[in-house]
Amino acid sequence: MSFPNTRLRRLRTNPAIRAMVEENSLSPVDFIAPLFIVEGNGVKEEIESMPDYFRYSLDRLQPELDELAEVGIRSVLLFVKVPDEKKGNKGTEALNDSGLMQESIRFIKESHPEFFIMTDIALDPYSSYGHDGIVEDGEILNDETVEVLAKMSVSHAKAGADMVAPSDMMDGRIGEIRKALDKAGFLNTGIMAYSAKYASSFYGPFRDALDSAPGFGDKKTYQMNPANLQEALREVEQDIEEGADIVMVKPGMPYLDVVKAVSDNFNIPVSVYNVSGEYAMIKAAAKQGWLNEEETMMESLLAFKRAGADLIATYFAKEAAKIINR
Ligand code: PBG
Repeated sequence: MSFPNTRLRRLRTNPAIRAMVEENSLSPVDFIAPLFIVEGNGVKEEIESMPDYFRYSLDRLQPELDELAEVGIRSVLLFVKVPDEKKGNKGTEALNDSGLMQESIRFIKESHPEFFIMTDIALDPYSSYGHDGIVEDGEILNDETVEVLAKMSVSHAKAGADMVAPSDMMDGRIGEIRKALDKAGFLNTGIMAYSAKYASSFYGPFRDALDSAPGFGDKKTYQMNPANLQEALREVEQDIEEGADIVMVKPGMPYLDVVKAVSDNFNIPVSVYNVSGEYAMIKAAAKQGWLNEEETMMESLLAFKRAGADLIATYFAKEAAKIINR
């Protein structure tokens, strides 16, 4: 039936009917809130390239956790900033059962046992080279790195992590991490695999936040080529076979087609990472008065749901949850 019998604008006449026929919506439980944790005391410092986003020392984290819980966020994704003197090529500090990450997991579990704690698994914050793996003669070693990532995952699980999130893009790491977790008795510790993670310039502000920019070269020998979509499906397929519980696409806004393809092709929860550069773009334009921050933020987040994402890791989590709740 076509015009004039059909007038699609009828369903847009007023807010009630628009809400009734809305196909997608956002809820605070869709969000995963990333947290940046630093050593020391009394630290709450704004990240220059991520306005209104902070690094916290553990003693200053409590109010932020309380606020996240209050707005209905269930899940946090932890990143730590490691001082230079604890960095090395093999990322040994990552395996320290009393390291900052492990302490942070214990602290959050204790203060907010209802939170679902996810932890970043990759060597870059611990690497003197700023790479996600062990370096030898300018190359990023795969299998040697995977061994460390598996141990790191067990260490996080021991501290109480509910799910580990390998963001390194080494081959075969999901299977090895699954094996290591099972062997250590952590059958219920899940894996959210950064399956289709692209070598993206949108990670810039994050690398400022953690002082984790690669010291030489780039990450193109392990992170994906932005030109590729078919390869993303192969990555996802392998990670599912190896035991991933959730697969992730990253970045978000420039890769909605990838989110859509993954969600159409696989029966597994899909998450998307609305990365630091995407956050910075909206914040910067809004501060200039060029974009409406609230509206552009909500529109971007909703687009992830429309593309098929079940979960969204986003620095807007708290801000967006507040808007949803009001
Ligand atoms: C580290 C990691 C990165 C991000 C999440 N985990 C940076 C990178 O791969 O260089 C980026 C997150 C963001 O930009 O918000 N493996």
